[in-house]
Amino acid sequence: MLKLAIDFGTVMTKIYKLGSGIVLAEATCVSVARETGAITAFGNDAKRLWGKTGDFGDVLFPVYEGDIANEEQAAALLEYFLKKIVGRSFSVEALFCVPCGCGAAAREKYYRVAKSAGISRVCFAETPYLAALGHDVPLSESNPVFAIDIGGGKTSLATFSLEGIIAGLTMSVGGNNMDIHIIDQIAETYNLKIGALTAEKLKNTVGSLIEHDNQSMLVNGRDITSGRPRSVTVSSEDVLFPIRVYVDKIAEYAEIVLKKLPAEVSAAMCKNGIFLTGGVCNIAGLADYMAERLQMEAHLPSDAQMAIILGGGRVIGNRSLRDKICME
Ligand SMILES: Nc1ncnc2c1ncn2[C@@H]1O[C@H](COP(=O)(O)OP(=O)(O)OP(=O)(O)O)[C@@H](O)[C@H]1O
Ligand SMILES: [Mg+2]
Repeated sequence: MLKLAIDFGTVMTKIYKLGSGIVLAEATCVSVARETGAITAFGNDAKRLWGKTGDFGDVLFPVYEGDIANEEQAAALLEYFLKKIVGRSFSVEALFCVPCGCGAAAREKYYRVAKSAGISRVCFAETPYLAALGHDVPLSESNPVFAIDIGGGKTSLATFSLEGIIAGLTMSVGGNNMDIHIIDQIAETYNLKIGALTAEKLKNTVGSLIEHDNQSMLVNGRDITSGRPRSVTVSSEDVLFPIRVYVDKIAEYAEIVLKKLPAEVSAAMCKNGIFLTGGVCNIAGLADYMAERLQMEAHLPSDAQMAIILGGGRVIGNRSLRDKICME
């Protein structure tokens, strides 16, 4: 039986195959014909159409803020990904990476989607544990860890040990909020309407929390007054506020989690610092900004967006770890 770890993220799906490593990283989206509702493209092919379908179709994201919002589209997309990596006939056992505090009802949805995509056996692991493993931090009962995963649709914050979550929460803040805010900011500053794909690219290219960072990028859009196509050069400074406002919110919630900790756990936090994961943590200067805000060391892995799935990969290959942290 093939063993996979699957991170069905709001923005990007990552799949790890035991024995091979990461075998897939694709947009979690489908394009749908407006008249018939039929799926016309999957994954990255669908995302390329985002904002370009006119009245003919829609690009939809079946996972919303870490929760499966459309089971039928989610199952079709997952089946497409599985066919891509394991071919037509397969018997698969999968570990799903789920948000911190993912309840029975949400897990039931993952279970139905997995079954309908052809997966035979399913288990679940919460992202904070996988974040630590993705950082190569060994889990133990006596050494609590604080992990923050900032994804496209949500942020999970948790202090935990191998015994369980000591304090944690999942909030509906992520890269998508920043992208939407960037669209509004560019409209206000330059009287230019840009699309969601352009806003995401701006965040990922010039987005920075480093003071006076002077990265810039040429962006194209539609002049709001004349309606004509127009280009402007956008700088890091232009997108600073739409990014910082959400990072500040995450830091505020991190403080709430830290305040709930027993003294001995706080002491361990001083020593261990914060372990950051999620694509948004790639924003230049984010780790230093968090460290400064929370007065703790902040660790960033070499590939923040892939850390959770690498953690998932470590669990599927380790029976005792699996027994300790996985839920059915
Ligand atoms: N270099 C980068 N700089 C800034 N943001 C980035 C960068 N690369 C990716 N991102 C952003 O990271 C987000 C996706 O990260 P990730 O794959 O961790 O999220 P996800 O797992 O799909 O979502 P979630 O965990 O919320 O369900 C997107 O908002 C994407 O634009
Ligand atoms: Mg994620």
